[in-house]
Amino acid sequence: MNTLFPADFRWGVATAAYQIEGAVSKDGRGPSIWDTFSHTPGKTHNGDTGDVACDHYHRWADDLELMSQLGIQSYRFSVAWPRILPQGTGRVNAKGLDFYERLVDGLLARGIEPNATLYHWDLPQPLQDKGGWASRDTAQTFVAYADAVSRRLGDRVKFYATFNEPWCIAILSHEIGEHAPGFNDRRLALQVAHHVLLAHGLAMPVLRENAPKAQHGIVLNFTPSYALDDSIEARQTATLMDGTFNRWFADPLFKGRYPEDIWELYGELVPKVDDGDMAQIAAPIDFLGVNYYTRVSFGGDPGNVERTAMGWEVFPQGLRDLLLRLQRDYGVPMYVTENGAAYADNFVDGTVHDPERVRYLERHLAAVHEALEAGANVKGYYAWSLLDNFEWAKGYSKRFGLIYVDYPTQRRILKSSAKWYAELIATHRVKS
Ligand code: FCB
Repeated sequence: MNTLFPADFRWGVATAAYQIEGAVSKDGRGPSIWDTFSHTPGKTHNGDTGDVACDHYHRWADDLELMSQLGIQSYRFSVAWPRILPQGTGRVNAKGLDFYERLVDGLLARGIEPNATLYHWDLPQPLQDKGGWASRDTAQTFVAYADAVSRRLGDRVKFYATFNEPWCIAILSHEIGEHAPGFNDRRLALQVAHHVLLAHGLAMPVLRENAPKAQHGIVLNFTPSYALDDSIEARQTATLMDGTFNRWFADPLFKGRYPEDIWELYGELVPKVDDGDMAQIAAPIDFLGVNYYTRVSFGGDPGNVERTAMGWEVFPQGLRDLLLRLQRDYGVPMYVTENGAAYADNFVDGTVHDPERVRYLERHLAAVHEALEAGANVKGYYAWSLLDNFEWAKGYSKRFGLIYVDYPTQRRILKSSAKWYAELIATHRVKS
């Protein structure tokens, strides 16, 4: 198979602020819901917190050097709202903006395109104390934050994404309770989802005004849902699951409405939607960021399923199917903004050999290539993640990095996957 990618296809890596930065009290940063949550007994594996994480706040220049060495073309990072506005609103903390300015200028100096996500889950705690995303006011507050960041960084950032994974912000955090702020309330979760989508739509014109030459969009996580047999039950369950997980978030953005079947399913739990909200949410975007890790399936027998250390099924075909389906249903330019795998990597004799990760990435990239050939408008790929990092509720027990982090010494060690990725970027070709 010919797996040569187009010459202008962008190769990147992704991270998120709370997962790598550490330095949680440095230079005026305020607390976020993840500081509170990770410091609450029983919420994260081993009581792990992001207090130090990869100490990227201090080591950013070395980390950029590593990226440069690998030939990374684009870096997707997130901006920590509590560094910019320690109270969530009001006074802007110049030192917080200075950090991201140094980072962005450092990337540009190395020929790496900055791709910034404004919200990767670290809501300032003072805003949570006022209701968090359950409060409609938070949408407006987000716009002021987006304004402060994009005003300072402007067009030096080539891509702005408003949110990372609204499903996780709403459902995983407010209904399932596994992530901060850790609630178990479906009605609340659906209202949160609505406010997050609204905040996205409200921020769009502000971002365009402050960074007219940048591309603006949002990052969604998709979990494609398959029926493994023809039973009505399996098919119905798969459709409903697809609806709650995928369509509930994508349809409003591209069609200006929630999917009818799921609206009915939720009954009286549906969110309060004001006049004009849906049009605002559907403000045109330049790109959709697609995060893909696994699928779910119903009915039939999935057979001998291969899984990562997260317990997630390895299913590369899901990424091809997903990209083609998004192309068909929404027709928007796409970037794969996250894809990757955790495995039990070991540091042995000075090296970290991670053939499973290489194989995972190879197979998923072959799937991206197939989607491209079949007409999906996919413009780039970001591996999750540059570094091993704080994997939320799983703490440091799960390693997703191309680069191994020895936490006690903060030493970085290139895994074989990092070397493999560098080779791929140099040749634009994937073995499969
Ligand atoms: C995604 C998150 C990212 C990382 C990966 C493994 O849901 O966006 O921060 O934790 O999962």
